Amino acid sequence: MNKSIAVITGATDGIGLEAAKGLLKEGFFVIGTGRNIDKTKMVEESLKKSYGENVKYFIADLSLMKNARQLYKDITAYIEQSRGSLTLLINNAGCYVSKKTITEEGFEKTEAVNYLAPFLLSHLFMPQLKKSEQGKIINTGSRSHYKATVNCTKFTYKGFYFGYFAYRKSKLKLTMMTQELNSRYCADNFRVYIADPGLVNTYIVQKSSKGIDSIFWSMRKRAGITVEEGASTAVFLAKQPISSLPYHYYYLCKPKNPSKFSQNPSKCSLLYEETKKILSAYLND
Ligand SMILES: NC(=O)c1ccc[n+]([C@@H]2O[C@H](COP(=O)([O-])OP(=O)(O)OC[C@H]3O[C@@H](n4cnc5c(N)ncnc54)[C@H](OP(=O)(O)O)[C@@H]3O)[C@@H](O)[C@H]2O)c1
Repeated sequence: MNKSIAVITGATDGIGLEAAKGLLKEGFFVIGTGRNIDKTKMVEESLKKSYGENVKYFIADLSLMKNARQLYKDITAYIEQSRGSLTLLINNAGCYVSKKTITEEGFEKTEAVNYLAPFLLSHLFMPQLKKSEQGKIINTGSRSHYKATVNCTKFTYKGFYFGYFAYRKSKLKLTMMTQELNSRYCADNFRVYIADPGLVNTYIVQKSSKGIDSIFWSMRKRAGITVEEGASTAVFLAKQPISSLPYHYYYLCKPKNPSKFSQNPSKCSLLYEETKKILSAYLND
């Protein structure tokens, strides 16, 4: 296999599915991931019909770190078997959880899917990406992070929980991780980015909520842009050479300053070290 391989999580719907189509059009070999077996198979077959054989999907529910780790192993075995090489990881899978949900591993679900799984997958795939001439990680961020602050040593929600607060905190942590990975590992051939898609008309909230959040989102999302527009920033970042992408936060294909909080070096470093500690069993086993 001679093509550049892109792994994209949450590629069965919304922005991720559209990004997968965009990358296929650009000539990437796309490895997508989904969580539902039937839906994932259907998406894979449909993409093959429209874009040819340069696509392969894997299944993993990324609310559990053991699944994220297994996904990494499965994808790595596939890449080795096909003698390909990985150039791009897009951490796109994301969720909005209305009701506090603690996973069997003890993590709050929003944080697990939107922040901890991207942290883990980034670290597991980084050695492969750093061998590439243009290795990139693109994290799907959100402008909701601008309104958030986080306690860098606190990882589970005790007591009060509000879905939107959990969501925006998870996206702030993802933005801080992006800054920290660049400050530790950025090189001429390796960089980490946030693609902020803007407000996009998808069903992300309806998937986990039938209550007030769902009603609010069904009205709010009408003002959103299309999934094609929402995916355009990730595809743009995937296509451009690293040398022409000097910033780490891009909104609708243009550089933008992330929140002041997310750029605080000591807070980013503290959060990074604390996250490594709580994920040590999955990073190292
Ligand atoms: N929509 C917006 O306005 C907006 C704005 C800023 C950022 N974002 C971010 O953009 C990303 C994509 O969201 P979207 O709006 O396109 O939503 P979406 O249509 O619901 O797509 C989310 C994707 O993630 C997958 N996913 C959800 N939970 C998962 C889990 N536990 N394990 C594995 N995969 C999981 C979904 O699988 P299924 O197909 O099985 O549901 C789907 O493929 C998310 O990170 C979101 O936070 C969205």
